[in-house]
Amino acid sequence: MSSVMTTWWYYGWRTVVAAFVFTVFIPNSVTSQPQTNLLLRSCATINATSLPIFSRNLNATFRDIRRQLLNNNTYFATSEQSNNTENVFVLAQCRNYMLTSECVDCFDFADASIRSCAAAIGARVVLDGCFLRYEANSFYTQTTLPGNVGLCGNRTSSRQDVFATVVDGLLSNLSIATPRINGFFAAVTAPVVGTNTSTAYAIAQCAITLTPDGCKSCLQVAYANIRSCTTDVTDGRGVDSGCFMRYSASPFFDNNKTIDITPFLREGGSSKKGAVIGGVLGGVGVLIMFLIALLLWYRRSKRTTPIDSLNGATLQGPKEYSYTDLKKATKDFKDENKLGEGGFGDVYKGIVKGGNTVAVKKLAIGSITARDNFDTEVRVISNVHHRNLIRLLGCCSKGPELLLVLEYMPNGSLEKYLYGEKLGSLNWKQRYDIIFGMARGLAYLHEQYHVTIIHRDIKPSNILLDNDFQPKIADFGLARLLPEDQTHISTRFGGTLGYTAPEYAIHGQLSEKVDTYSFGMVVLEIVTGKRCTDVPNESVGEEYLLERAWNHYESSIHLKLVDDSLDPAEYREEDIKKIIEIALMCTQSPVSMRPTMSEVVMLLSDRSRVQNPPTRKNLDIGDLKIQVDNSTSDKMPMSNADATITELEGR
Ligand SMILES: *[C@@H]1O[C@H](CO)[C@@H](O)[C@H](O)[C@H]1NC(C)=O
Ligand SMILES: *[C@@H]1O[C@H](CO)[C@@H](O)[C@H](O)[C@H]1NC(C)=O
Ligand SMILES: *[C@@H]1O[C@H](CO)[C@@H](O)[C@H](O)[C@H]1NC(C)=O
Repeated sequence: MSSVMTTWWYYGWRTVVAAFVFTVFIPNSVTSQPQTNLLLRSCATINATSLPIFSRNLNATFRDIRRQLLNNNTYFATSEQSNNTENVFVLAQCRNYMLTSECVDCFDFADASIRSCAAAIGARVVLDGCFLRYEANSFYTQTTLPGNVGLCGNRTSSRQDVFATVVDGLLSNLSIATPRINGFFAAVTAPVVGTNTSTAYAIAQCAITLTPDGCKSCLQVAYANIRSCTTDVTDGRGVDSGCFMRYSASPFFDNNKTIDITPFLREGGSSKKGAVIGGVLGGVGVLIMFLIALLLWYRRSKRTTPIDSLNGATLQGPKEYSYTDLKKATKDFKDENKLGEGGFGDVYKGIVKGGNTVAVKKLAIGSITARDNFDTEVRVISNVHHRNLIRLLGCCSKGPELLLVLEYMPNGSLEKYLYGEKLGSLNWKQRYDIIFGMARGLAYLHEQYHVTIIHRDIKPSNILLDNDFQPKIADFGLARLLPEDQTHISTRFGGTLGYTAPEYAIHGQLSEKVDTYSFGMVVLEIVTGKRCTDVPNESVGEEYLLERAWNHYESSIHLKLVDDSLDPAEYREEDIKKIIEIALMCTQSPVSMRPTMSEVVMLLSDRSRVQNPPTRKNLDIGDLKIQVDNSTSDKMPMSNADATITELEGR
């Protein structure tokens, strides 16, 4: 045990404000009794006037608390003796992951420990497994108390950035969700890949006597305190009067105590769960699911149309195909016609009347909401006309399944040309054209279409290639057709951000710049031929693609990044350097440093050099938090990037 002495201010019920001393214990290692590990003890400096009465009252309340914890199978108890001269109000709380016997054991420990405050009129002890406090007046609704602390375990020298990012996401989500959960407690875990630490564990808890708002403000303080630990320490606690937060790289609760907090991340708490989707998310090969975000603010320019009018007759609707015809076109959805499959349904090649080849997507979305919104969303998508965006040719909403009819791309996806059977076969000009076309397609979706459409899932498998190897972006977002309960972090984030912008992956903060980021990652892949998600072998000095790109760029050796299969005679070094710089600009954080997609188009078309060279800023979780506090902490967008675990093979 190491101990730290410090002073803080104590606001007693008496009018004086007395300074007093408390001791913080920080465990050096996991003990055999981890739940009774003492974190903090503090005693008021004012003593009771009548020790015998005080002692009798204290004993009576403690006995009552112990009885409640033992017999009522509860984790939380209060008790008071307040009808005589030495009033005592007591509150005890165990972490909800404990068994009743463990809870009572922890309470006994806390009881023994708090006795060292002798006749002090107020005291509290915080252990890993429980919390005990008494005062001379009622404090049950108190949220924060000066002296609240973040307690960090031992510093670790090993690289912790991935772990830190995962933990920060968990803690941020806990601070949002816990106040909305009945009982004010949640335990969660998330996988951490690419490090020795394979899982992150975290909990948050508030005193049951708080209001949801009180719980929220307490956890905000606790979260701010505990974050001082997350950068290079594998365990930490945030301790305050009304709440407790903890994370660790080691398990401190049973896995079966975790809950899915995703439904609580959105205002309004637990929402109805979307049907079906969860189980099939990991599947491969989806043709369409452009994720649309109809941003609720209107643009000043006249191309912006209020969302309501989308329901009206201002837009031409898609062509309605008959179910029977599409069934025939795809030979009754025969396996040999299948182009791919994924979370939102299978895609089939079909030949419709007139002889045109199309791709038919069978939407595996059964929810009522999906059907309700289908027509509106499909109408929005079907009016997107751009040479770098896949066309929606029609749909079928009358049959037993929702079907989308899409442009068919015989060359398949960029994925195939970067990593699949056609690996290494794209020359520089083709790669450049793909980069340019993607930029134009995204600029159109963001800024030129009458509603802003954020794709949210830009990656090589969603970039289809036409006969001339011009790119067409697939995957229109049917955001409203998607289930709303997919977490943006715990199930898919897995420690590497991949194509997903950090502020979106961690906080669900959505803007067009989310696409700018993914675009930058794909550009790096096109230039290097390496996947951004490839897990580096750190023992031989490998790094994630983005990290390597920054390091090479900062050392002015970015040409070393270029794909070996490219013939150096095909490209100008200046062009490649510029494109790498544009890609890095696109991946900068905070989002304000990223260019808009139309700025990217301008940079690409301009022969001059990039004016403001990109600068690396390490993922600054502080920035992200501030942004989320200002805007989105209470309204997590539909962050169904989960659906992004898909592959598109328009074979
Ligand atoms: C209260 O309990 C403590 C510890 O259990 C004991 O030492 C003390 O004598 C008790 N005081 C009274 C007045 O019962
Ligand atoms: C992983 O563990 C090994 C030995 O246990 C250690 O040498 C290595 O530095 C660790 N790597 C990281 C990233 O912590
Ligand atoms: C949870 O896991 C623990 C140990 O892993 C086990 O003893 C306990 O029975 C489990 N509880 C439930 C409800 O499955």
